[in-house]
Amino acid sequence: MLDIPKIDQARLEAFAARAIGDLTAGYTGVMVSLGSKLGLYKAMAGAGPLSAKEIATRADCSERYVAEWLNAQAAGGYIAYHGVSNTYELLPEQAMVLADEDSPVYVPHAWNVPASMWFDEAKSLEAFRTGKGVAWGEHDGRLSCGSAAFYRNGYRAALVPQWLPALDGVVDQLEAGIAVADVGCGYGHSTLLMAQAFPNSRFHGFDTHPGSLDEARRNAEAARVADRIDYALARADDYTDGQYGLICFFDILHDLGDPVAAARHAARTLAPGGTVLLVEPFAHDHVKDNLSPVAQLYYSASTVICTAHAISEGGQMVLGAQAGQARLAEVFRKAGFTHFRRAAARTLRCTAQGHRPDTIRHRTRRARPDDHPRSLTTPADPTIRDVARRKTRAASAFAREGRAMTPVFPSTT
Ligand SMILES: C[S@@+](CC[C@H](N)C(=O)[O-])C[C@H]1O[C@@H](n2cnc3c(N)ncnc32)[C@H](O)[C@@H]1O
Repeated sequence: MLDIPKIDQARLEAFAARAIGDLTAGYTGVMVSLGSKLGLYKAMAGAGPLSAKEIATRADCSERYVAEWLNAQAAGGYIAYHGVSNTYELLPEQAMVLADEDSPVYVPHAWNVPASMWFDEAKSLEAFRTGKGVAWGEHDGRLSCGSAAFYRNGYRAALVPQWLPALDGVVDQLEAGIAVADVGCGYGHSTLLMAQAFPNSRFHGFDTHPGSLDEARRNAEAARVADRIDYALARADDYTDGQYGLICFFDILHDLGDPVAAARHAARTLAPGGTVLLVEPFAHDHVKDNLSPVAQLYYSASTVICTAHAISEGGQMVLGAQAGQARLAEVFRKAGFTHFRRAAARTLRCTAQGHRPDTIRHRTRRARPDDHPRSLTTPADPTIRDVARRKTRAASAFAREGRAMTPVFPSTT
C-alpha cells in the first residue's frame, strides 16, 4: 500500500469505480469474442425474447455455458433480460454493434487488437526496458486481422460516399481514370472499395508486411477487382513512381519511422494536380485537450503498437496515434508542401434508424473526434487532405453513453 498522506474518499471511490469499470470491460471483451465466434449474437438477432435453451439450440452450443454467458451479457447491458419470462433479447441497437458484421459500429473484431496487445506483453516489456522497437509484423496476427476487419466497415460507410467527394475534383479524376497509390494498405479494404467504385482507375497497394499483402490479394480476388489492383511489397518512401493522381495514407502516417520521408516521396510521385488523402485518428494538438476515453484508447494502442513500430523503423519522428493537426501539417510542410487543410469535419453518431450513421457535430469538447481533412499544396499544386477516422467518432458516441472505453476500440496505429 502506498503511503498517501490524505485520501479524498469521494475521489477514491470514483476512481476505484472507474478502474473496476475498465477491468470489467476487459472481461466483457472475452465474452463478446465468444458470443461472436460461437454465433450467439447472430442466433439472437431479430428473434425477440428467447430462453437460454432456445439460444443454445440455435447456436448449437452447450446450454449451461450459454446460460452463464447470457447472464454476464445481461449484467453488462449487452443484451436485455426479461425477468418474468426468464428470457434474453438482443435489441436492434445491440444487434447493430454485436451481430451485424456490415454495420459501421460492429465491434467484436476490434477485441482482437487488445487480445494481441496482451499476447505481446513480453515484447512491450522488453521494448520499454531497451528502447528497441516492435514492428507491425512482429505482433500476434490478431492485430492485423482485427484492425483490418474493424476499419473495413468504417471505410465502407465513409470512403467512397463521403471522404472522396470532400476532395476537390478527385471523384471526377477517378471516374475518368487515374493511378492511385494506397500506402500501407494492410488488408486492402480501402483499395478494394475504391477499385469497385472507379473501374477506369488503376490502383496500387503498398505495404511492408507480406502477410497483409497476401490477405489483400485474396480480398481483391474475392471481390473480383484483382485485375484493377496491384499489390507490392514496398516502403512508404520507396514505392515505384506511378505519377499518381491520388496517394492515400489510411491510418499509417503516424506509424512510420520517418513520416517526412514518406511525404517527400508522395510529393515526388504525385502527378501534376494530384491529391494526397491523409486519414488519421482525430486528436487535438495538446495533451491537455486529449484527456478523453477515446484518446485513452489511442494513446494506449499507440504505446505498444504505433510508437513501437515507428521506433522499429529508426524513429526519426515518432508521431504516435494522437499527433494532432499541427504536427501532421508540419510533416508535410517539411516535405515541401505549402498548403494543408481539413477537407471535411463531422462526427459519427450511431442511431437506431438503420445501418447508416448520421453525421452530427459533437457537442462536448473532451471526446470530440471529428473528421478533419487538411490540405497542403506544393509549388506544383498537389493537395493533401486529411480525413479523421470515423472509427474514432464511433468510439466517441460510445464514450458519450458512458461505457468504459479503454479496451473496446483498437487504434491500429
Ligand atoms: C494501422 S495499419 C493500416 C492498414 C490500412 N491502411 C488500414 O487502414 O486498414 C498500418 C499498416 O502500415 C504498414 N506499414 C508499416 N510501416 C510501413 C512502411 N514503412 N511502409 C509501408 N507500409 C508500412 C503495416 O504493415 C500495416 O499494414
